[in-house]
Amino acid sequence: MHTLKSKFTGCGSYVPPTVVTNHDLAKLVDTTDHWIRERTGIKERRVTSGEKTSDAAIKAGKFALKASGINPKDIDLVITGTVTPDMVFPSVSCLVQKELGLTPGIPAFDVSAACSGFLFAADIADKYIKSGTVKNALVIGVDLFSTIVDWKDRSTCVLFGDGAGAAVLSASHGKSGILSSRIHSDGRYWEMLYAPGKFSFNAFNKKSVAETEAPYLKMKGNETFKIAVRTMGQAIKEVLADSALAPSDVSLLIPHQANMRIINAIRERLLLPEEKVFTNLEKYGNTSAGSIPIALDEAVKEGRIKQGDILLFVAFGGGLTWASQIVRW
Ligand code: ACO
Repeated sequence: MHTLKSKFTGCGSYVPPTVVTNHDLAKLVDTTDHWIRERTGIKERRVTSGEKTSDAAIKAGKFALKASGINPKDIDLVITGTVTPDMVFPSVSCLVQKELGLTPGIPAFDVSAACSGFLFAADIADKYIKSGTVKNALVIGVDLFSTIVDWKDRSTCVLFGDGAGAAVLSASHGKSGILSSRIHSDGRYWEMLYAPGKFSFNAFNKKSVAETEAPYLKMKGNETFKIAVRTMGQAIKEVLADSALAPSDVSLLIPHQANMRIINAIRERLLLPEEKVFTNLEKYGNTSAGSIPIALDEAVKEGRIKQGDILLFVAFGGGLTWASQIVRW
């Protein structure tokens, strides 16, 4: 019998049906399909036409539950990584708990770690499972960045898209499961990447929206790029060392889908061939917390993952936050 681990027993994902291509965006802002593809690798993204974050999370969660074969009544923890919840409260996780008919009274809460949200949520669930407190956790990553980007700002609006991914993690004494998980934050760099949102409105002092900072997402793209490559490289080294594995042992790298150039820089550092890296950002752009679980679900469905494979997840996002995980499938 092996040590207690968190095994991925089911995955699911959901993206809204509305497709917005680079050509569509070129009609909105001063950009071109060529610029976006060359600088990012993105061709199109999905955008909500009224569905809320919880709607997408519920759909992805339902697919993951179905794939796991686990009775919804046996889920004893829900954690959602998101920075675009429907409301300030309740959490998206509480709405998911209700709509999926999960047991009343189980803990359900959200974590705020931007694009690293899914790996932060999975890390917390892993700790609950390893402590023996939880047997089955529903972990979700979801964001609708179309609701927080400035559709007049060409430097950010072309990068993001909407989507949700989910996974069921179950306690297991087998060989498969999370072998190592690391999460990190550095608040000194919060201004690299942030979205003031509605919290900056000051109703008591009667300041109008115009007097306060615009609520949209803001990013220093170039500096963020460099920090992303460095921190994700470090996080990968940590989990490989924890698991006594070499880069050549990795069967599939599933990185955060922000920019093809960042992904290539990481792949080159690890000396991984292209076929060992999963990408789908050309279809969805950066879906923030949705990015890794959507990619994982697609990789499973495309038959890219077989039992015993070593998967490497790595993410980076606002906070700043970054995270990595090694999983034996
Ligand atoms: N179309 C055309 N031109 C543009 C566009 C656009 N959509 N956007 C910017 N430009 C222009 C700029 O104005 C600039 O023009 P200038 O040279 O005349 O000043 C030029 O293109 C180059 O701009 P850069 O910002 O230097 O372009 P860069 O090659 O760095 O690419 C990008 C920008 C794609 C944003 C890149 O820096 C990046 O991917 N950064 C990291 C993003 C990321 O990983 N974020 C973390 C996760 S997100 C989260 O957590 C929420």
